[in-house]
Amino acid sequence: MSNIVKVLGLFGSPRKGGNTDLLLAEALKGAAAAGATVEEIHLSDCKITPCLGCLGCFKGGACVIADEMQGIYPRLLNADIVILASPIFFYGVTGWAKAMVDRIQALWARKYVLHDPELGKEGVKRRGFFISVGGTKGQRMFEGAVLTVKYFFDAFNADYAGELLFRQVDASGDILKNPEALPQAFAAGGKLVSDLRNTKFGGSHG
Ligand SMILES: Cc1cc2nc3c(=O)[nH]c(=O)nc-3n(C[C@H](O)[C@H](O)[C@H](O)COP(=O)(O)O)c2cc1C
Repeated sequence: MSNIVKVLGLFGSPRKGGNTDLLLAEALKGAAAAGATVEEIHLSDCKITPCLGCLGCFKGGACVIADEMQGIYPRLLNADIVILASPIFFYGVTGWAKAMVDRIQALWARKYVLHDPELGKEGVKRRGFFISVGGTKGQRMFEGAVLTVKYFFDAFNADYAGELLFRQVDASGDILKNPEALPQAFAAGGKLVSDLRNTKFGGSHG
C-alpha cells in the first residue's frame, strides 16, 4: 500500500481568487509541503445538476444523472483527506457546493441503504476539513453550513477533522487583512497530513 497521503481540495466559491480560494490554496500548499499529493476541483467550473430525488441510487449506489459529478465520486473516494472551502451564502454553503453535497446521496445510499462494506465501520477511513468565511459578524453564521458539511463528509467516511472559519471577511481579498489567516490555513493543511500519516502509517516516512 502506498503511504502517500492524497488530498483533494474542493473550491466552492464562484469568485476566482476570492477569500476561500486563497485560504484553500494555502491549505493545499501546506499539505503538499508535508509530502501529500494534492488535487483540486473548482466546483463553479463543473456542470453538476442538483439531485433529482429520484432515489435511483438506492438500487445500485450509483447516481443516474450523467454529468461531471460522475467524475467527482471516484476522486472523493480516492482521497485520504478532503478539504471543502465555501463562503457563507445565506447561512449555508454556496449553491455550487450544495449541488455536489446533495449528489452525495448516491454514496449515502451505498453506505446506509446498501451497506457497502467499503463505507462501513471496517471500511476505508478518510478525513474532512471545512474552510469558510462570511461577510458579517453573525454569531450563528456557520451553524447551517457546518452541519451540512459534516453530513456530506460522513457519507464517504470522512471524519470531520476540523475547520477554519472567519467572520467579517467580505470583499475579495479581505482575508489578507488578517495576517494570521493564511498561515493558519497552511498549518492546517500540513497538520491534516501529518496527523493522518501518524495514525494510518504509524508515523513512517513518505
Ligand atoms: C449570494 C450571497 C449570499 C451571502 N450570504 C451571506 C450570509 O448569509 N452571511 C454572511 O455573513 N455573508 C454572506 N455573504 C458574503 C460572503 O460570505 C462574503 O462576501 C465572502 O467573503 C465571499 O467569499 P469568497 O471571496 O470566497 O467568494 C453572501 C454573499 C453572497 C454573494
